[in-house]
Amino acid sequence: MSKIKQISHVAVVVNDMDKSLLFWRDALGLEMTELRDVPAEKSTIAFLPAGQAEVELVRPTSDDSGIAKYLAKRGPGMHHICLEVDDIEDMLVRLKGKGVRLINEETRIAANGKKYAFVHPESTGGVLVELYQA
Ligand code: CO
Repeated sequence: MSKIKQISHVAVVVNDMDKSLLFWRDALGLEMTELRDVPAEKSTIAFLPAGQAEVELVRPTSDDSGIAKYLAKRGPGMHHICLEVDDIEDMLVRLKGKGVRLINEETRIAANGKKYAFVHPESTGGVLVELYQA
């Protein structure tokens, strides 16, 4: 049976990456280990590890992306929490069996080869949840 291993990251949508880094990197003192464009998601992302988990900052690079629409509608702030799971396919089957509403019925493959899928906030208490398998 699939198991949740840990919180992988917490993602925050921002409209100004440099300004956000003044807090997350410069004031808190977290190290930024990654800053890159993700053309497939039309966004720029920064990763700042905090212990075993990471803070992910996401900024849209185009007005027509999902993340840009989210930002326009709800403003900057908490976007999703990501849980690492050891067997994502098994977990999706289990969640479906329990009537959980999924955004991605099938796993998606990220550019780095890792598998992920999103669970709808309607089933989670209002938080967008990403499941991810390394
Ligand atoms: Co994420």
